Amino acid sequence: RRRIVIDTDTASDDVVALLYALRQSDVVIEAITVVAGNLPLELCVKNAFVSIEKAGTYEPPVYMGAQKPLCKELFTSEYVHGSDGMGEMLLPSQKGVAQEEHAANAIVSLARKYPGEIDLITLGPLTNLALAAILEPNLSSLLSSVWVMGGAGSKIGNITPVAEFNLFVDPHAAQIVLDANLKPQFIGWDVSTDETFLNEKDMKTLEKGSETSRFALRCNKTLVELNAKYWGRIGFDLPDPTAMIAFLHPSIIEKQREAFCQMSCDDSVTQGQLVIDWQNVLGKSSNATIIEKIDGQKFKKLLFDSLLVDC
Ligand code: BDR
Ligand code: CA
Repeated sequence: RRRIVIDTDTASDDVVALLYALRQSDVVIEAITVVAGNLPLELCVKNAFVSIEKAGTYEPPVYMGAQKPLCKELFTSEYVHGSDGMGEMLLPSQKGVAQEEHAANAIVSLARKYPGEIDLITLGPLTNLALAAILEPNLSSLLSSVWVMGGAGSKIGNITPVAEFNLFVDPHAAQIVLDANLKPQFIGWDVSTDETFLNEKDMKTLEKGSETSRFALRCNKTLVELNAKYWGRIGFDLPDPTAMIAFLHPSIIEKQREAFCQMSCDDSVTQGQLVIDWQNVLGKSSNATIIEKIDGQKFKKLLFDSLLVDC
């Protein structure tokens, strides 16, 4: 079975991504490493345990990581995910206890234990992964692959005009990941719009499906309300599940390109932007792959096949 590590700032769309991954019988999640992002760290950890319980399969170890970005104050997004990151379900606290080891150390330990075997995906700011890369300069040759939900290959940003949330929260960490030769496969926020956007019909399908699919819908309530109120859109996008499903089933990827990328880290209007040299005007070798499109119908089928049943 494929060994994977999931790094997450667990709130609504991370939750759906975790539910999906926890239900894949051909992968084993060696660790869920948690980072502050959507919410302060403790709430993200709680939501990781809630996700494990709701998936109803097995209990991977959960590790607590960075409480704040490397060089900035933490910027959270309760307005998107709810004060609890769960659409205001305000669930009681969980019985799960996080491991003692720091998330960044856990990433390094697992990479050393299974050299060349671990596929790692990040669904939040890159702080934990950057720390791991600093702790183990050889990380790039120890990991099998690194996938990052972050950036926006073809569209505008979702947190500033040009920046996507995860990379904006910790741009310095993202630059460290690029410099560490980890060759990330970026799946931007833009990939989870258009064909992969869950519309009114999809929401009805989730509502009717199972306890699990109702839960997946319910924890995105704040986002659904935000979309309706500010953009007149019925439905919601799922950036983290889009990244997760492409990571687990790369055959659904329709378009991807390699390019040289660098982060805008300075304190300006572009801070947090993933600058992609599409035309190779700098003449530098590519250091990342940008996934630009996946098959939306296949994405929804895989998602629904997993969530519409209870375990
Ligand atoms: C990303 O930002 C977060 O709010 C989501 O969980 C996702 O990881 C999308 O830009
Ligand atoms: Ca996330």
